Amino acid sequence: MSKHVSTKNVSTLTLKKYKSEGRKIVALTAYDYSTAKILDNAGVDVILVGDSLAMVALGHKTTHSVSMEEMLHHTKAVTRGAQRAMVVADLPFMSYQVDVTQAITNAGRFIKEAAAQAVKLEGSTDLTLQIISRLTGMGIPVMGHLGFTPQSIHGLGGTRVQGRSAEAAYKLVNDALDLQKSGAFSVVLEMVPASVSRIISSRLEIPTIGIGAGNECDGQILVTDDLLGKYTDFQPRFVRRYADLDEICTDAVRRYADDVMSQQFPNQQESFMLAADEEEELLRALMNSSPS
Ligand code: KIV
Repeated sequence: MSKHVSTKNVSTLTLKKYKSEGRKIVALTAYDYSTAKILDNAGVDVILVGDSLAMVALGHKTTHSVSMEEMLHHTKAVTRGAQRAMVVADLPFMSYQVDVTQAITNAGRFIKEAAAQAVKLEGSTDLTLQIISRLTGMGIPVMGHLGFTPQSIHGLGGTRVQGRSAEAAYKLVNDALDLQKSGAFSVVLEMVPASVSRIISSRLEIPTIGIGAGNECDGQILVTDDLLGKYTDFQPRFVRRYADLDEICTDAVRRYADDVMSQQFPNQQESFMLAADEEEELLRALMNSSPS
């Protein structure tokens, strides 16, 4: 038996080292095998199977509707596609909010059944902190998520920037420190003023990953379908589009439809031909046989 269990190259230790070296962490979301392969080949460090898949891949209005089974299904596909990147799976809404036992059971499923390397959960309630401490104690790395936490969208009164007053920002700094103390290996900061993220990033030993949180976090994450211009239901201000896949794909599909309708597709090279002598023999046999 081999002495070494093979693990993906990026681990929690790699991310900690990147922070200490000032090397920014590159993170993106993926929900399927081929996207995970593209991100991995492009050198992305962390691939998050975010519960944003509820909206982006499944067409729901919020992240609430995605189930554990759906998250597991997509996480399995992503871990098959990622060789180097660390794969983090989002614990979906109501898969960890009931109690510690429920959280441990569901987090364990991501590691055991879907081969994820870590899980992410939102907020910093007493229960969340207890969950993080129990999971990290049993060797399951946990990424926290503060600021705008989409699973609490109704409680927060909509999609809005968090930590805008000194009091709210002070609470965010302390919440981040609590997550670190409980054992989280990194924290996502979503829709937080840049100066607040800078203060949090400088006070934490663990890396911060920003989304709509300025450029002084230790890393950045975006929803890949936003970055590629594939999900167009809305575009948050903090998204930068690096491609317009919606336009590229629509154009390609239109050209395919035109070719099908005009019989330009498929051509001879795209078809399988019967040898001329076999075709002759076939036609002769059909002529000689009585119609059934
Ligand atoms: O679900 C998700 O995609 C996320 C990221 C945007 C951080 O939580």
